[in-house]
Amino acid sequence: MFENINSLPADPILGLNSVFNQDRHPDKINLTVGVYQDSNGATPIFSAVKKAERSLLSEQESKAYLHQSGSAKFVKHIPSLLLGDDLVQQLDARLETVMTPGGSGALHLGAKLVSMSSRSARIWVSDPTWGNHYPLLQSSGLHVETYSYYDAELKGVNFARMMESLSQIPEGDAVLLHGCCHNPTGADLTKPQCDELIELMSKRNLLPFIDIAYQGFGKGLEEDAYLTRLAARTLPEVIIASSCSKSFGVYRERVGAISIITENEKQTAAAQTHVFSAARCSYSMPPYHGGGTIGRLLDDENLKLEWQTELEKIRCEMIETRSELSKGLNAAQNKVDFSFLNNSSGMFCYLGISREQVLKLRSEYGIYLLENGRINVAGISKKNLPVMIDRMSRVIGLT
Ligand code: LMR
Repeated sequence: MFENINSLPADPILGLNSVFNQDRHPDKINLTVGVYQDSNGATPIFSAVKKAERSLLSEQESKAYLHQSGSAKFVKHIPSLLLGDDLVQQLDARLETVMTPGGSGALHLGAKLVSMSSRSARIWVSDPTWGNHYPLLQSSGLHVETYSYYDAELKGVNFARMMESLSQIPEGDAVLLHGCCHNPTGADLTKPQCDELIELMSKRNLLPFIDIAYQGFGKGLEEDAYLTRLAARTLPEVIIASSCSKSFGVYRERVGAISIITENEKQTAAAQTHVFSAARCSYSMPPYHGGGTIGRLLDDENLKLEWQTELEKIRCEMIETRSELSKGLNAAQNKVDFSFLNNSSGMFCYLGISREQVLKLRSEYGIYLLENGRINVAGISKKNLPVMIDRMSRVIGLT
């Protein structure tokens, strides 16, 4: 059967991370995959998560199958985190949330739902977007097209062009929006821009499919949910794919959620059966441990507060790192103003360097970033920052 099988190219993010692990360069720096690292290069478990996990393990009495929705506490609390208590109450049975294996699982189920329900089975993603959006959404049955987003000259969102682009797409199509901390650029919309965007989507009957994977990493838990809440409050139909990987640091546990909002209770209940069916055709029901842990954490006010404090510390650290990087690069040369780095939000940003320069950083100095120039800001520490600044200045010919 497999005599003619060919290998596929490695995943551009995960594959690069593996190459990094094998690199023997003494000063190597990993800025590839989006994982938080502290100043020692470690990815510690949040203490609130550890406590919730211990309590879950000590009290768990059965390993019987879970309901397809997932942990009851998880699906009770995640909507409030995303949307706030009042909106959740207001939406009532128009909203249903299902636990998924990671944010990718949520994207897959959401895409399946769209492909089963929409005539065009088309989704528009920002240019650029997370590289895995393409294969993931396509393999879930959707045609993927792009709308304008980032402008390399402006080093930010070209909002006028984005709106122009979205005003051209066929009514009724789905549009993938990054809830916050745009991956890969770190360039987010302002609140007034979100307002305008949602107004346009409402007028043109476009379905927002929101991917929110970095809540709490940008401006704060509440602020980062602005676009998601606005869409959920204003529009009749919204799909939200959320991830707990980063905000709770539970990457390997694979915890996410798909939240569906439709015009009425009946449609939401029907949509949920399609989500269950799509899950049943692949993994049946979500794994319990990670979601069960997060559900417990969010159900306990003290643990929740502890988690929020830990998350806030990480957020502030990333802001400081950006500022140190931009200050350091500006001090090392006077040809390019790197202050623009401070305008990006969350874990990622574009350095604005060429592919050749990216490859040179990798081959000569063991500094790994994605070929599009994306860095994981959390991969930079006080220890490796001076090396990073020095090597970058050399490679881009500024010193
Ligand atoms: C990333 O973009 O680095 C993260 O979302 C991790 C992943 O799965 O690609």
